[in-house]
Amino acid sequence: MRPALRKVSSLLRHLNSHRRAHSTSSVSADELSHFSSLASSWWDPMGPSRVLHLMNPLRHDFITSCLADTPPPPRTSATAASPAPANNLRYLDVGCGGGIFAESLARTIPTNPNTTSATRTQAASITAIDPTSALIKIARDHARTDPKVSAHLRDGKFTYKNCTLEDLIENSSHSEDEQFDVVTLFEVLEHVDSNASSSPLGFLTNCLKVLRPGGWLVGSTIARTFPSFLVNQVIAEAPWPIGVVPRGTHEWSKFVNPDELYAWAQEGLMRSQDGAAVRGGSDALQGMRWQCSGVMYFPGIGWKMALGSESWGNYFWAVRKGV
Ligand SMILES: C[S@@+](CC[C@H](N)C(=O)[O-])C[C@H]1O[C@@H](n2cnc3c(N)ncnc32)[C@H](O)[C@@H]1O
Repeated sequence: MRPALRKVSSLLRHLNSHRRAHSTSSVSADELSHFSSLASSWWDPMGPSRVLHLMNPLRHDFITSCLADTPPPPRTSATAASPAPANNLRYLDVGCGGGIFAESLARTIPTNPNTTSATRTQAASITAIDPTSALIKIARDHARTDPKVSAHLRDGKFTYKNCTLEDLIENSSHSEDEQFDVVTLFEVLEHVDSNASSSPLGFLTNCLKVLRPGGWLVGSTIARTFPSFLVNQVIAEAPWPIGVVPRGTHEWSKFVNPDELYAWAQEGLMRSQDGAAVRGGSDALQGMRWQCSGVMYFPGIGWKMALGSESWGNYFWAVRKGV
């Protein structure tokens, strides 16, 4: 077989095996193949993932503002003799890609867990998952280049897993001990497959299932409007030097408006209460909080928060699960 044909046939075999492995998954084979092709340039700050790199500091700011609004309750009751650690939050980064956010958060985890000074995001650990195996490999390789981050990979405070969210849930005991204080979902919702067994609502519900009561689900996505079509598909995916993301990155019909997302978050909170939960229905909305803020990309400057622009463009959003 000619080398090019061999390469295509091996890629098809890989995608088919992935499809079999994740039969009830929210992952589309097209998305896997698209993101696999970007793996080698993921950490190039001037490469195709440039806008994700530039957005990263705002993610930390937005999480910090959610935690300041309503902090997740401590897991263990603190006493004067044994105060709760200052950085005690367990994070899950869903669709972590090559690790731009996950690695930056891992860098904030103190080496000494008993440190009394709180970091802005108060992370004690982070688990980062992605269905694209090539990206998880790139993420791990990159993390090993920083001694502090590499130490967290070894001591278990930082974990990468090549799996889907559905796999994670299937292998979880669903106890509060295994749930996370903060679940992040940056630029992922608009890539989730919609089919007979998968939908963005089902995906959000799963994110809320792995979230502790009192925890925050934090994400970013793009509103489905005419301006966002122009900006994110026509201009952003135009050929170089105008375009900033590779062609085929986005499908405008999968973008999500903030009011849809808010309704799905409410529905997801109600659905995520399983049969053993004491609360269901609209009771599940007690203590819910919602945050939403537009962000705009200015060429040469980067991303800036732009309150009000969430109704037509890129935005951060967050939902707190009631206690
Ligand atoms: C635009 S990238 C964002 C990566 C990362 N969150 C960031 O912002 O740096 C989208 C990521 O979502 C992942 N993805 C696509 N479909 C997914 C699904 N159904 N579940 C979880 N992750 C998915 C892709 O593999 C890819 O890594």
